[in-house]
Amino acid sequence: MELTIHAQAEEEIFYPAVRAAIKDNDLMDEADVEHAGAKNLIAQLEAMTPAHDHYDATVTVLGEIIDHHVKEEEEKMFPKAKKAKVDTTALGAALIQRKHELQAERGEAEPVKARKAQSR
Ligand SMILES: [Fe+2]
Repeated sequence: MELTIHAQAEEEIFYPAVRAAIKDNDLMDEADVEHAGAKNLIAQLEAMTPAHDHYDATVTVLGEIIDHHVKEEEEKMFPKAKKAKVDTTALGAALIQRKHELQAERGEAEPVKARKAQSR
């Protein structure tokens, strides 16, 4: 859930601003594809149980995609954004605010979980 929320907030707030500023569409396109790959694996995991024979491998590959993606952001995207004078402080604050909104929206599903727990 944290990964999904983080990716959505980045795509809505951080990526459009960085794409406009750094003029490196190839780098931003790669980031989009990595997000799509991670979301695909998250969707697969949501449809599986840990008993599924490829569950562990799917978790491992998701971790590898995320590790690679974070490395690319930290080593390529963020330095370019800094060089292009993107206001990362303002964007960071907007990103955190959007993440809180998305967490609150997701939080509405919690009473269902609570009811399930009580019925056990
Ligand atoms: Fe990202």
